[in-house]
Amino acid sequence: MSTVQLRTPIPGPRSQALMKRRNAAVVQAAYHATPIFVSKAEGAVVEDVDGNRLIDFAGGIGCLNTGHRAPAVIEAVRRQLDRFLHTSFNVLPYESYVAVCEKLNAIAPGKGPKKTLLVNSGAEATENAVKIARAYTRRPAIIAFEDAFHGRTYMAMAMTSKTHPYKAGFEPFPTEVYRIPYAYCYRCSYSLKYPSCEVFCAKHLEDAFKRVVAAETVAAVIVEPILGEGGFVTPPPEFFPTLTAICRKHGILVIADEVQTGFARTGAMFACERLGLEPDLVTMAKSLTGGLPMAAVTGRADIMDVSGPGQLGGTFGGNPAACEAALAVLETIEKENLCARANVLGERFRKRAAKWQSQWELVGDVRGLGAMQALELVRSKATRQPADEETKQVTQYCYEHGLVIMNAGSYGNVIRLLMPLVVTDAQMEEAMDVLEAALANAAEKKGTLTAQLT
Ligand SMILES: Cc1ncc(COP(=O)(O)O)c(C=O)c1O
Repeated sequence: MSTVQLRTPIPGPRSQALMKRRNAAVVQAAYHATPIFVSKAEGAVVEDVDGNRLIDFAGGIGCLNTGHRAPAVIEAVRRQLDRFLHTSFNVLPYESYVAVCEKLNAIAPGKGPKKTLLVNSGAEATENAVKIARAYTRRPAIIAFEDAFHGRTYMAMAMTSKTHPYKAGFEPFPTEVYRIPYAYCYRCSYSLKYPSCEVFCAKHLEDAFKRVVAAETVAAVIVEPILGEGGFVTPPPEFFPTLTAICRKHGILVIADEVQTGFARTGAMFACERLGLEPDLVTMAKSLTGGLPMAAVTGRADIMDVSGPGQLGGTFGGNPAACEAALAVLETIEKENLCARANVLGERFRKRAAKWQSQWELVGDVRGLGAMQALELVRSKATRQPADEETKQVTQYCYEHGLVIMNAGSYGNVIRLLMPLVVTDAQMEEAMDVLEAALANAAEKKGTLTAQLT
């Protein structure tokens, strides 16, 4: 029996009624990718308020690698609810905060003894990583990348690249953020080709020190091992070793933003492990807790400890229920071998996607690591003109047919997979069938659409 069960057209009447209330009461800037209101969820399946069952390939934007309501997470949070819900670690500390930090210190990428700070969101983690890097180096500048996403608070927004909808209208931004191109081989900023380029983009950092910002003023380079919101762009193997060697030479710290890539998504606990990236600091959030808000900065102990008592943290950072959830998530990833599962899911997708790429002009690039996979859609393989409208059509077709899926990319033309890694083989195939039908539908319409838009 299929997992997807649609009792009403999507969105159903209850979702539509709630959308009316939402439009009257909630700011329009709090965007949502579908018009579907959820009623419950389990594993990789969500049920909406009209009784429709859909497969979830968005996972709350990559927060549910262990699935909706992972049993161990629910059990751990329940136990905590019976003990206490909040004291603030700043006032009355508790063991679970310490245990999460011990665990992250042991597993996070990077060499040597480590220490950890817990906060509430990915943006707060990237903000704090910058505070820590500046305090340690006593240097002001931060280098970020084109197509990067680091959050919506002011410093995080300054480090984020995409203008609409993330930055436009919110100027001015904090200063001392400089930007260089990422290793986006499909759209190389230097019009070079890998491997003959010899990762010129990484080597070009030395040039930036002459023409953009003096190396001795740079505290850190912040980088996503694989671009998340930027479209799952996956750098070639030489990129990070080359980049980090240049940073080390100049005493510049490397911050790996693993908010979206972390916790088994890429087939390893952290994407850094797969890409030869050895950071000084790592930011983590999303799938750390299986659905509760918590984030972390883990890094070299000597760097992390440069700030004094009270200089970092906040009222809610490392909430007790979130800490218990994180401990359960980390155990579940190991016990259920979710890194290996991510690789299996990624391979299944790649097989189907290779067929789509040879079949349709629309599918320009297929990329990713483990279960962090994406399709970049284009109007023509020759011109690589971004197929943003077609991408919207694909995501809409998908949710109307029972698959929740998200787009990404600076041009809004990337379809990305963020499914729970506990998705069954049958659900995975069913989801791929819906995606295939959505692509076929968009590819068929493409002729007329291209004519309308040009
Ligand atoms: C790489 C990366 N960093 C930071 C953030 C910001 O996280 P949050 O939305 O929890 O503030 C995100 C969110 O998508 C992200 O993907």
